[in-house]
Amino acid sequence: MISVGTDLIEIKRIEKSIKRAGFLKRILGNAEYLELKNRNFPIQSVAANFCAKEAFLKSVGKGLGEVDLRSIEVLREKSGKPYFKLTNINWLDKSINFSVSITHTKEYALAFVVAEHGNKNEED
Ligand SMILES: CC(C)(COP(=O)(O)OP(=O)(O)OC[C@H]1O[C@@H](n2cnc3c(N)ncnc32)[C@H](O)[C@@H]1OP(=O)(O)O)[C@@H](O)C(=O)NCCC(=O)NCCS
Repeated sequence: MISVGTDLIEIKRIEKSIKRAGFLKRILGNAEYLELKNRNFPIQSVAANFCAKEAFLKSVGKGLGEVDLRSIEVLREKSGKPYFKLTNINWLDKSINFSVSITHTKEYALAFVVAEHGNKNEED
């Protein structure tokens, strides 16, 4: 089984939020924070990470507020390809594989997540 989640955000919204003290620390996990810090927190990428977290939640049927966003870290491979590092998400079926894709313009960031569920019930 496959489920998907997507999210689109106005970068302006994140620009406003980022001015609030502690916002970045509230939404970014440690590795994710450091990775973006090393890139001087590009606003498009911060917005894209936020989008990817929301898209992840949609793909697993959860809402904002139900899960600590810091536990859904969005990191980048050497090639730039994004991936999730999930920590302390005990309620999640370990057999689910997630793929995430990100895009952004000056004004918007978008993320798309595909969740591939394990084949435990293949006979059904
Ligand atoms: C992927 C790519 C086509 C996107 O370019 P673009 O259309 O200008 O940019 P978009 O706004 O649509 O997408 C940007 C996002 O693509 C994602 N991305 C970057 N490289 C990627 C890759 N190799 N695979 C998948 N996604 C990638 C990133 O999440 C990036 O967002 P970020 O800047 O917040 O990290 C371009 O970055 C590319 O050609 N990368 C190839 C790099 C590569 O393979 N290098 C190998 C060297 S190890």
